[in-house]
Amino acid sequence: MDQGGREKCFTSFYKPGDINVLKTARGVHIVKTEDVMTRLSTFSRRRERLPGAGLAQVPLARIGKNASYWMETMGCQMNVADSERMEGQLADLGLRKAEKKETANVIVLNTCTIRDHAEQKVYSYVGPHARRKHKGDDVAIVVAGCVAQQEGEKLLRRIPEIDLVMGPQYANRLGDLLEDVMNGNQVVATDPSLIMEDISRPKRSSDICAWVNIIYGCNEHCTYCVVPGTRGVEQSRPKESIRAEVEDLAARGYREITLLGQNIDAYGRDMSPKQTFADLLHYLNDVEGIERIRYVTSHPRYMSERVVDAVANLDKVCECYHVPFQSGDDEVLRRMRRGYTHDSYMRIIDRIKRLAPDAAVCGDVIVGFPGETEEQFERTLELMEKVKFDNLNTYAYSPRPNTEAALWPDQVPEEVKSERLQKLQRLGAQHAQERSERYLGRVVEVLVEERNPKNPSQVTGRNRQNRPVFFAGDIDELRGKLIDVKITEVRPWSLTGQRAGDP
Ligand code: SAH
Ligand code: SF4
Ligand code: F3S
Repeated sequence: MDQGGREKCFTSFYKPGDINVLKTARGVHIVKTEDVMTRLSTFSRRRERLPGAGLAQVPLARIGKNASYWMETMGCQMNVADSERMEGQLADLGLRKAEKKETANVIVLNTCTIRDHAEQKVYSYVGPHARRKHKGDDVAIVVAGCVAQQEGEKLLRRIPEIDLVMGPQYANRLGDLLEDVMNGNQVVATDPSLIMEDISRPKRSSDICAWVNIIYGCNEHCTYCVVPGTRGVEQSRPKESIRAEVEDLAARGYREITLLGQNIDAYGRDMSPKQTFADLLHYLNDVEGIERIRYVTSHPRYMSERVVDAVANLDKVCECYHVPFQSGDDEVLRRMRRGYTHDSYMRIIDRIKRLAPDAAVCGDVIVGFPGETEEQFERTLELMEKVKFDNLNTYAYSPRPNTEAALWPDQVPEEVKSERLQKLQRLGAQHAQERSERYLGRVVEVLVEERNPKNPSQVTGRNRQNRPVFFAGDIDELRGKLIDVKITEVRPWSLTGQRAGDP
């Protein structure tokens, strides 16, 4: 390609994975974008000396010798996955995990702001480390994740001891940003950015099960939710990069992957040419060594029949559908801007129950959304009675900054919210127990993950429908193996059994 062509490439808005046609003086070129380099920080400025404080950052020379880090993670699986990637980069810089946070040289707080008092939690967590700086400790304080994105520079004004504020889109770039900090700068990285592929290896907390991002961000505008504001617009990862990550995991002994996306059914709609989530499931199903594929989270507005069918038909994709419904009432759903109704949600569930009768169905629900009446709440209970969720995440509505519903005048009083929440949780527990009872006396396949922390003579893992199962066994012999277990005892959210064939 000539100079003009290269310039066009660099000035066009191509995303990783896009295939585009480019015309130059030398003809027509088909260009595939593999990765995109982006400007890193929103701003980076020389750190001021703190009044009465020591140097206030870890000198670069210490990295790689004795420096250590501490990572604290709040929030959803996305944040857990981001933390694992950030830990990988810290390890690449030569830092080791500190024995306790009080002595760590780099503190990373990966934050969540989905509900209540998130900012307050950050301030109280960071406080003791800020005080350490004033005593002269070498410590760099990093606030990452969704509160960092939401609050940005405000965090530095409130706590000037913070060294780096970075939004979730920069999780793959912690290493570079930290170098800037170590050179004496205070850094904020919150501008919307194309997410670069991760060149380091995440430091994963499990050797058996791994998170794999497939789509970042969210383009929905649910009126209660902060996520589009904190994680930005949808960005799908190229399917080849996803597969390469999964193959690498398989080669290193991982047996289960969970594909991550806020609205996983949106996978590929931002790509050129477009891709679909159902096709991605087919594309990943034959990676040798991987035994199980899970994914979260489905959106009832976009979940296609092809996805329901793919889960029912592909042998590695586990029969576990996580489809948040949020409310059973059409008017509440409309005000939430969810884009589906009670009946259209039930059509998805009916298809699931028809094609995969033994599948688990899980959901998320919010009570006390602004304006929710007693009758509307009853519609939520009705939907629960029809579906009988295997597991339900239940939340009281929490007004969040920069969301529409937070400004509406018809907020539901806290006592009403908590009354409804309790009622709903009681019903949810009853359904979970009923769903567990179907396993009694049956043999289920368990992927063994770890020792039961409460009973070292037992091991634990999950069945295909994601229920934790406990049974007697030696972890060193069983870790990472698929074992048939006969269920002898059931509880709402877990099961106990014995190895099939054991007396
Ligand atoms: N992307 C997923 C969910 C992301 S947030 C989806 O669309 O379903 C996880 C859950 O938190 C949501 O499903 C919702 O039930 C809950 N949630 C989000 N914002 C909330 C708020 N402001 N108050 C209470 N619960 C909320
Ligand atoms: Fe939030 Fe809605 Fe996006 Fe889910 S789909 S992350 S609830 S805006
Ligand atoms: Fe929380 Fe951000 Fe996840 S707000 S739930 S960490 S997307």
